[in-house]
Amino acid sequence: SSDHLRHMDSMSQLPSGAGNISSLNAVILGESLASEEHDLVFPSPHFSSQALISSPQQYQEMYKRSVEDPAGFWSDIATSEFFWKDKWAHEVYTENLDVSKGPIKIEWFKGATTNICYNALDRIIESGSGDKVAIYWEGNELGQDGKLTYSELLNKVCQLSNYLKHVGVKKGDAVVIYLPMLMELPITMLACARIGAVHSVVFAGFSAESLAQRIVDCKPRVVITCNAVRRGSKAIHLKEIVDNALVESAKNGVSVGLCLTCENQSAMKREATKCQDGRDIWWQDVVPQYPTECEVEWVDSEDPLFLLYTSGSTGKPKGVLHTTGGYMVYSATTFKYAFDYKPSDIYWCTADCGWITGHSYVTYGPLLNGASVIVFEGAPNYPNSGRCWDIVDKYKVTIFYTAPTLVRSLMRDGNEYVTRYSRKSLRVLGSVGEPINPSAWKWFYNVVGDSRCPISDTWWQTETGGFMITPLPGAWPQKPGSATFPFFGVQPVIVDEKGNGIEGECSGYLCIKNSWPGAFRTLYGDHERYETTYFKPFTGYYFSGDGCSRDKDGYYWLTGRVDDVINVSGHRIGTAEVESALVSHPQCAEAAVVGFEHEVKGQGIYAFVTLVDGIPYSEELRKNLILTVRNQIGAFAAPDKIHWAPGLPKTRSGKIMRRILRKIASRQLDELGDISTLADPSVVEQLIALSDS
Ligand code: WT7
Repeated sequence: SSDHLRHMDSMSQLPSGAGNISSLNAVILGESLASEEHDLVFPSPHFSSQALISSPQQYQEMYKRSVEDPAGFWSDIATSEFFWKDKWAHEVYTENLDVSKGPIKIEWFKGATTNICYNALDRIIESGSGDKVAIYWEGNELGQDGKLTYSELLNKVCQLSNYLKHVGVKKGDAVVIYLPMLMELPITMLACARIGAVHSVVFAGFSAESLAQRIVDCKPRVVITCNAVRRGSKAIHLKEIVDNALVESAKNGVSVGLCLTCENQSAMKREATKCQDGRDIWWQDVVPQYPTECEVEWVDSEDPLFLLYTSGSTGKPKGVLHTTGGYMVYSATTFKYAFDYKPSDIYWCTADCGWITGHSYVTYGPLLNGASVIVFEGAPNYPNSGRCWDIVDKYKVTIFYTAPTLVRSLMRDGNEYVTRYSRKSLRVLGSVGEPINPSAWKWFYNVVGDSRCPISDTWWQTETGGFMITPLPGAWPQKPGSATFPFFGVQPVIVDEKGNGIEGECSGYLCIKNSWPGAFRTLYGDHERYETTYFKPFTGYYFSGDGCSRDKDGYYWLTGRVDDVINVSGHRIGTAEVESALVSHPQCAEAAVVGFEHEVKGQGIYAFVTLVDGIPYSEELRKNLILTVRNQIGAFAAPDKIHWAPGLPKTRSGKIMRRILRKIASRQLDELGDISTLADPSVVEQLIALSDS
């Protein structure tokens, strides 16, 4: 972060801008920005000249229209680039983002009917691209691969849609998907969308308990999974996890009658998997028997498309609900512009479809644009750290979208893993999940991209559906570590503690004024929590939960979560969830979890644990506590550090002072601040004394 600060220092010598986009004028006019050229990374004239948005002026004109006339801007795109069975009634959108004026409500293209699967497949095929490859699949092992053209993909989707209809899945029913990155994952998402079923993909790294929690919340008709997956050198028996989850959810009153299981032969033979008669069906035994054509279920633009659970700062995971029409238009349009998409591109996003990135930018956004997409089952460092570039060369990948944590870990492994591959096909790079530190940005840019490929550092969230603040790679110079400017239609507002918007150069809380088509519409089953979490903190605005600053040139710099959410390797983990997993261990009396800076993961998980009276600290107990979290949430949420705590710093009213814990976790012991308000200030000394145990 000192790197970041130095960088900000030199930026402050730039000419002052008025904030927001008007400050882009400086860029347009080339005003003395060039004198600070070492901080600005310009797209090459060759790149800009071929780009969809090739200059700041062009961006500014489109942006201006998008915020002055959102209805006109978005309905033009919706009309010209998508198929609607029926057009929206009259309003393009209606919204209320102000809790003082009534319930929060966002609707786009209401009354119109469409189908996102039709738009992603049938429409592309009808335009003549049926023989174009939709999905290149790369397995965990070298040499293990497959592909599907748009026509072949549609056939597979239709077979599954027909099967799902046959077993009684209807429009509006939930389907839980617990699959690794096989082609069956996007196929299943699209098959649900085709018949109007609401998919809820659960990342296949979540534990049985987490899966059960989600099943209990959305009560699916069917769970779709596979027997096993190989990631790196390990085989994971996913069906066993699902079995346990189904037992657990039945105990909580939700019995799922059907578990469709795909046999992933290369990971495990089906004989190794127990099946429950009447409930468990092998995909390969039934789905291929169904017709390869399936009529589309036309749904309202505001009918739900999917639920995706994400962590909040308190309580159970939130079911983020996205609807159809707005999400479709938004995911496709953001994909197109932020990656400067051309039909000749080969696109690879390393995210798993279990996260929002895999929804919007593995499945929907790219396929709606008719792109060729790579779906990779394996781990990016298996069999060695050159795997990504091996894949890039094998498929001639042109757009490569990944997370800072992967960039940092590959950077640590050394340049030789990169430079032994050509990577000549690459033209655009992308980053998502957390702020990318300038040194990782520069390595990504110089070493991976050979100083030739612009980096789209895309800021967005599960809730936003698509990119919110993002470079448009041909439009303007980049600053390493800045997500640059808002996407069309997005009006960021940086507010102070009191909720007042601040102009110009400033730091504060990042909010968004007005809705955008990709915005989530509610938290499933809990509209009140939706309003409280996102719209009540700052009246009239959507509150992102992120801190942000804007520099003199109007560039936005995301600074991380300001709530009790930790961002570990780009995955959002609620401190409360980890705490409740820890205290479920019979020997744990109390736990408090904070984030700390981690070289590769961005943030790591640091847990302060108070044991039940009389229980001694031991290495075995430490391991068991970590195992408890792995079992309850998933391996990715395992604490990096357990800190034994005879007591926790609390105020007299019993509130844990996390501020102090964060300082102890990051060893900033001279910055603890005022501890006199603690009920028992001596606990701080005890904690410090135990710091290195
Ligand atoms: C949180 C959202 C959006 C897909 C992946 C994560 C952080 C995400 C960036 C970025 C700085 C970023 C924010 C945000 N974040 N992208 N480019 N620069 N921060 O989705 O799990 O919903 O997490 O990830 O803190 O709030 P998510």
